[in-house]
This record gives sequence, C-alpha cells and structure tokens, in this order.
Amino acid sequence: MPRIGDKAPEFKAVTTQGEINFPADYKGSWVILFSHPADFTPVCTSEFMPFASMEDKFAKANCKLVGLSVDGLHSHIAWLRTIKEKIQYRDMKDVEVNFPLIEDISMNVAHKYGMIQPNESGTSAVRAVFFIDPKGVIRAIIYYPLSLGRNFEEIYRALIAMQTADEFKVATPADWVPGEDVIISPAGTCGVAKERMESTSDLKCYDWFFCLKPLEKAEVEKAILKK
Ligand code: BEZ
Repeated sequence: MPRIGDKAPEFKAVTTQGEINFPADYKGSWVILFSHPADFTPVCTSEFMPFASMEDKFAKANCKLVGLSVDGLHSHIAWLRTIKEKIQYRDMKDVEVNFPLIEDISMNVAHKYGMIQPNESGTSAVRAVFFIDPKGVIRAIIYYPLSLGRNFEEIYRALIAMQTADEFKVATPADWVPGEDVIISPAGTCGVAKERMESTSDLKCYDWFFCLKPLEKAEVEKAILKK
C-alpha cells in the first residue's frame, strides 16, 4: 500500500479520455488520483458533480484530476452521459465530466493503490484521494468509507496548503485558508528560540515553538495560481 513520501506506483490504463501512462503523463503537474465505489450510485454521482465543476479551479493551481472505479469503460461513459443529461444536485446541472475516468475491472490499479479495503468492500474501491506532486511523489492520502461523500473544497484547500508550504517553506495551521497566518518551522537551537521570542519583526511568537507570520492571500495566489 503506497504511503506519503513514496513514488506514485506506475500503471497504464484505459480511461474515458483515452489511454494514460501514470504518473509519467502528469510530470510537472500536481494530480489528484481518486477512486469511487461504483458508477450509477447516488453518493458517487453527487461527488462527481462538484469535482467536475471545480476542474478549472484545480487546473489554475496546476492540478489535474483522474478518477477510477472498478467498473468498465462503457459503464463509465453511460454514467457520465446520464450525469450531464439528467442529474441536478444543489445548483449544478448539465455537468460535463472532462477529466479521465479509469476503467479498472481487473482491480489492478485499485489494488496497487490500496483502494480495495476488504472489510469495507471486497468488490469496490473505497473513496480514496491521492495527492501526487509534480515529481510523482505522493504527498497526502485521504480515505473515506462508501457511505460518506467527500468535501471537495477541503481537497482544494489541502492542495493549496501543500503548495504554499512548498513555495514559502512554511507549515499551515488547522483550518488554514489563504490570507491567514502561517507557521514557521520550530526553532532548532536555543539561540534561535531566544531570537524569535525577542524579535520585533512581524513574527507572532506565543512561545518559542509556536510562531506564526502573516502571508497575504495575494502573495499566495501570485505564487500558485496560473492566470
Ligand atoms: C453511493 O455512491 O451512493 C454508494 C456506493 C457504494 C455503496 C454505498 C453508496
């Protein structure tokens, strides 16, 4: 089962957008590889609508989306057509899913990525989300059970937070969103700890190990978002 920090396992697959060679085809981009249990199921349908609607937003953050279930290609095509033609959820309708959806009847990819978790279901994938960086390294993994639809704003928030951490060499606190203070790495020496506590800069050190600094939303957007 792949873990954070591992290279994303390689595979070739057939998708609704043609064949892909993963992760090689995505070199230089972030990619979110996610699984859903089955086509033509309600929770999955409610998930695909917001995720597909947010595809441009993810693209602006240099991130591509790739879906997977253990259904076949024709089922995928029929389901995506049905979503576009018939389904309405919240304020979304006429939603076209343009990102590739992998057919994985053999469960080859699902097993490689630990998406089959037999005590939840032996016949379908759980709701897994793999965040893979432009070098093909897995940076975060989220698993949800079959009954629980994901929050795609949280998935976007996590992506932007990781990109911000990379770009500005900081960490992001609980519930952080762009524009809020970020965390600087803990002091590694007594000297640095003292310096921080005595600093008159814009650092906010509540104690030597808990130091925040401002990072403007515009600065984050300038560094991360493509125009
Ligand atoms: C759903 O997407 O609605 C679903 C899929 C598998 C099991 C339970 C619910």
